Amino acid sequence: MSETVAEQLGALRAAALACTACRLSEGRTHVVFGDGSPDADVVIVGEAPGRREDEQGVPFVGPSGKLLDRLLAEIGLERDDVYIANVVKCRPPGNRDPRPDEIEACKGYLREQLRLIDPKVVVTLGNFSSKLLLKTDTGITRLRGTAYEWWGRHLVPTFHPAAALRGSARVLEDMRYDFSLIRDAIDGNLASQDDPEPETTPASGPDPEQLGLFGR
Ligand code: URA
Repeated sequence: MSETVAEQLGALRAAALACTACRLSEGRTHVVFGDGSPDADVVIVGEAPGRREDEQGVPFVGPSGKLLDRLLAEIGLERDDVYIANVVKCRPPGNRDPRPDEIEACKGYLREQLRLIDPKVVVTLGNFSSKLLLKTDTGITRLRGTAYEWWGRHLVPTFHPAAALRGSARVLEDMRYDFSLIRDAIDGNLASQDDPEPETTPASGPDPEQLGLFGR
Protein backbone atom coordinates (compact mmCIF):
# COMPACT_ATOMS: atom_id res chain seq x y z
CA MET A 1 0.00 0.00 0.00
CA SER A 2 1.27 3.46 -0.80
CA GLU A 3 2.41 5.70 2.01
CA THR A 4 0.00 8.38 3.19
CA VAL A 5 0.88 12.06 3.04
CA ALA A 6 1.19 12.06 6.83
CA GLU A 7 3.68 9.19 6.66
CA GLN A 8 5.71 10.86 3.94
CA LEU A 9 5.74 14.13 5.86
CA GLY A 10 6.85 12.16 8.91
CA ALA A 11 9.80 10.72 6.98
CA LEU A 12 10.70 14.19 5.69
CA ARG A 13 10.49 15.59 9.22
CA ALA A 14 12.84 12.85 10.44
CA ALA A 15 15.34 13.82 7.74
CA ALA A 16 15.08 17.51 8.68
CA LEU A 17 15.61 16.75 12.37
CA ALA A 18 18.95 15.17 11.49
CA CYS A 19 19.92 17.83 8.93
CA THR A 20 23.35 19.48 9.16
CA ALA A 21 23.37 20.94 5.64
CA CYS A 22 24.07 24.49 6.80
CA ARG A 23 25.55 26.44 9.72
CA LEU A 24 22.12 27.08 11.25
CA SER A 25 22.12 23.49 12.52
CA GLU A 26 24.96 24.39 14.91
CA GLY A 27 22.97 26.83 17.01
CA ARG A 28 19.51 25.34 17.02
CA THR A 29 17.64 23.96 20.00
CA HIS A 30 14.97 22.40 17.79
CA VAL A 31 14.40 22.04 14.08
CA VAL A 32 11.09 23.78 13.35
CA PHE A 33 9.90 21.56 10.53
CA GLY A 34 6.24 22.56 10.21
CA ASP A 35 2.91 22.04 11.87
CA GLY A 36 -0.69 21.42 10.93
CA SER A 37 -2.92 19.25 8.83
CA PRO A 38 -1.40 17.14 6.02
CA ASP A 39 -4.76 17.60 4.21
CA ALA A 40 -4.78 21.38 4.57
CA ASP A 41 -6.23 23.52 1.78
CA VAL A 42 -3.93 26.31 2.90
CA VAL A 43 -0.17 26.22 3.48
CA ILE A 44 1.32 29.30 5.14
CA VAL A 45 5.02 29.96 4.62
CA GLY A 46 6.92 32.23 7.00
CA GLU A 47 10.59 33.16 7.06
CA ALA A 48 12.52 31.45 9.85
CA PRO A 49 11.92 30.34 13.43
CA GLY A 50 12.39 32.90 16.17
CA ARG A 51 13.46 32.31 19.77
CA ARG A 52 10.21 30.78 20.98
CA GLU A 53 9.82 28.61 17.93
CA ASP A 54 13.38 27.34 18.41
CA GLU A 55 12.59 26.54 22.06
CA GLN A 56 9.39 24.67 21.25
CA GLY A 57 10.04 23.25 17.77
CA VAL A 58 6.74 24.66 16.50
CA PRO A 59 6.31 27.53 14.00
CA PHE A 60 4.63 30.81 14.90
CA VAL A 61 4.14 30.35 18.64
CA GLY A 62 5.40 33.83 19.58
CA PRO A 63 3.74 37.25 19.16
CA SER A 64 3.65 36.96 15.35
CA GLY A 65 1.88 33.64 15.75
CA LYS A 66 -0.78 35.16 17.98
CA LEU A 67 -1.55 37.75 15.33
CA LEU A 68 -1.53 35.08 12.64
CA ASP A 69 -4.05 33.05 14.66
CA ARG A 70 -6.28 36.12 14.97
CA LEU A 71 -6.20 36.86 11.24
CA LEU A 72 -6.96 33.22 10.48
CA ALA A 73 -9.88 33.23 12.92
CA GLU A 74 -11.30 36.29 11.16
CA ILE A 75 -11.64 34.24 7.97
CA GLY A 76 -13.02 31.23 9.82
CA LEU A 77 -9.83 29.16 10.02
CA GLU A 78 -8.09 27.57 12.96
CA ARG A 79 -4.52 26.35 13.13
CA ASP A 80 -5.64 22.78 12.65
CA ASP A 81 -7.21 23.75 9.31
CA VAL A 82 -3.91 24.93 7.83
CA TYR A 83 -0.29 23.84 7.60
CA ILE A 84 2.45 26.26 8.63
CA ALA A 85 6.11 26.07 7.62
CA ASN A 86 9.08 28.37 7.15
CA VAL A 87 11.62 28.94 4.39
CA VAL A 88 14.41 27.85 6.74
CA LYS A 89 13.77 25.32 9.48
CA CYS A 90 16.40 26.43 12.00
CA ARG A 91 16.67 29.75 13.83
CA PRO A 92 19.23 32.20 12.47
CA PRO A 93 21.35 33.56 15.36
CA GLY A 94 19.90 36.72 16.88
CA ASN A 95 16.99 36.46 14.43
CA ARG A 96 19.12 37.78 11.59
CA ASP A 97 17.88 37.30 8.03
CA PRO A 98 18.47 33.87 6.54
CA ARG A 99 21.39 33.93 4.08
CA PRO A 100 21.12 32.80 0.46
CA ASP A 101 23.17 29.63 1.02
CA GLU A 102 21.00 28.71 4.04
CA ILE A 103 17.82 29.17 1.97
CA GLU A 104 19.38 27.11 -0.81
CA ALA A 105 20.31 24.31 1.61
CA CYS A 106 16.82 24.24 3.13
CA LYS A 107 14.42 24.88 0.28
CA GLY A 108 14.10 21.22 -0.70
CA TYR A 109 12.17 20.60 2.52
CA LEU A 110 9.66 23.32 1.67
CA ARG A 111 9.38 22.07 -1.89
CA GLU A 112 8.52 18.60 -0.62
CA GLN A 113 6.08 19.90 1.97
CA LEU A 114 4.20 21.80 -0.74
CA ARG A 115 4.31 18.88 -3.15
CA LEU A 116 3.00 16.40 -0.57
CA ILE A 117 0.29 18.59 0.95
CA ASP A 118 -0.72 19.95 -2.46
CA PRO A 119 -2.85 22.80 -1.06
CA LYS A 120 -5.36 24.95 -2.93
CA VAL A 121 -3.77 28.11 -1.57
CA VAL A 122 -0.21 29.02 -0.58
CA VAL A 123 0.19 32.10 1.61
CA THR A 124 3.61 33.72 1.81
CA LEU A 125 4.34 35.97 4.78
CA GLY A 126 6.86 38.70 4.10
CA ASN A 127 9.68 39.16 1.63
CA PHE A 128 11.64 35.94 1.96
CA SER A 129 8.94 33.41 1.20
CA SER A 130 7.17 35.67 -1.32
CA LYS A 131 10.31 36.36 -3.33
CA LEU A 132 11.45 32.73 -3.17
CA LEU A 133 8.19 31.20 -4.37
CA LEU A 134 7.29 33.89 -6.91
CA LYS A 135 10.92 34.04 -8.01
CA THR A 136 11.03 37.78 -8.11
CA ASP A 137 13.03 40.63 -6.61
CA THR A 138 9.89 42.71 -6.20
CA GLY A 139 9.23 43.52 -2.56
CA ILE A 140 6.18 42.48 -0.58
CA THR A 141 4.67 45.97 -0.51
CA ARG A 142 4.22 45.82 -4.27
CA LEU A 143 3.50 42.10 -4.51
CA ARG A 144 0.66 41.95 -2.00
CA GLY A 145 -2.99 42.69 -2.64
CA THR A 146 -3.30 40.06 -5.39
CA ALA A 147 -3.81 36.31 -5.59
CA TYR A 148 -1.37 34.89 -8.14
CA GLU A 149 -1.92 31.80 -10.25
CA TRP A 150 0.85 29.48 -9.14
CA TRP A 151 1.21 25.91 -10.32
CA GLY A 152 -2.49 25.23 -10.61
CA ARG A 153 -3.27 26.86 -7.29
CA HIS A 154 -3.38 30.34 -5.83
CA LEU A 155 -0.55 32.09 -4.05
CA VAL A 156 -1.42 35.02 -1.78
CA PRO A 157 1.57 37.11 -0.65
CA THR A 158 1.10 39.32 2.36
CA PHE A 159 3.13 41.15 4.98
CA HIS A 160 4.84 39.20 7.73
CA PRO A 161 2.81 39.57 10.97
CA ALA A 162 5.93 41.04 12.63
CA ALA A 163 5.58 44.02 10.25
CA ALA A 164 2.04 44.59 11.47
CA LEU A 165 3.19 44.37 15.09
CA ARG A 166 5.91 46.95 14.39
CA GLY A 167 4.06 49.01 11.86
CA SER A 168 1.00 51.11 11.38
CA ALA A 169 -2.65 50.13 11.49
CA ARG A 170 -2.49 50.34 7.71
CA VAL A 171 -0.29 47.22 7.52
CA LEU A 172 -2.86 45.28 9.52
CA GLU A 173 -5.69 46.53 7.32
CA ASP A 174 -3.75 45.46 4.22
CA MET A 175 -3.22 42.03 5.77
CA ARG A 176 -6.95 41.77 6.46
CA TYR A 177 -7.62 42.44 2.79
CA ASP A 178 -5.08 39.78 1.77
CA PHE A 179 -6.63 37.28 4.17
CA SER A 180 -10.02 37.95 2.54
CA LEU A 181 -8.36 36.78 -0.71
CA ILE A 182 -7.38 33.52 1.02
CA ARG A 183 -11.03 32.98 1.99
CA ASP A 184 -12.13 33.76 -1.58
CA ALA A 185 -9.55 31.38 -3.00
CA ILE A 186 -10.69 28.54 -0.71
CA ASP A 187 -14.31 29.19 -1.64
CA GLY A 188 -13.57 29.45 -5.36
CA ASN A 189 -14.73 33.06 -5.38
CA LEU A 190 -11.70 34.73 -6.90
CA ALA A 191 -12.14 36.71 -10.10
CA SER A 192 -11.46 34.76 -13.27
CA GLN A 193 -7.98 34.35 -14.72
CA ASP A 194 -8.89 36.72 -17.53
CA ASP A 195 -8.62 39.66 -15.17
CA PRO A 196 -5.76 42.06 -15.90
CA GLU A 197 -2.45 40.74 -14.69
CA PRO A 198 -0.66 42.59 -11.91
CA GLU A 199 2.12 44.80 -13.19
CA THR A 200 4.75 43.50 -10.80
CA THR A 201 5.16 39.81 -11.61
CA PRO A 202 3.70 37.31 -14.03
CA ALA A 203 0.31 35.93 -12.97
CA SER A 204 1.56 32.42 -13.55
CA GLY A 205 4.60 31.05 -11.81
CA PRO A 206 7.97 30.35 -13.30
CA ASP A 207 8.79 26.94 -14.62
CA PRO A 208 9.49 24.38 -11.89
CA GLU A 209 13.07 23.76 -12.91
CA GLN A 210 13.89 27.43 -12.58
CA LEU A 211 12.09 27.74 -9.31
CA GLY A 212 13.85 24.74 -7.89
CA LEU A 213 10.90 24.10 -5.60
CA PHE A 214 8.88 21.71 -7.69
CA GLY A 215 10.46 18.94 -9.68
CA ARG A 216 14.14 18.32 -9.37
N1 URA B 1 8.50 34.27 12.15
C1 URA B 1 8.56 33.39 11.14
O1 URA B 1 8.77 33.76 9.98
N2 URA B 1 8.36 32.11 11.42
C2 URA B 1 8.10 31.66 12.64
O2 URA B 1 7.92 30.47 12.80
C3 URA B 1 8.04 32.61 13.68
C4 URA B 1 8.23 33.91 13.43
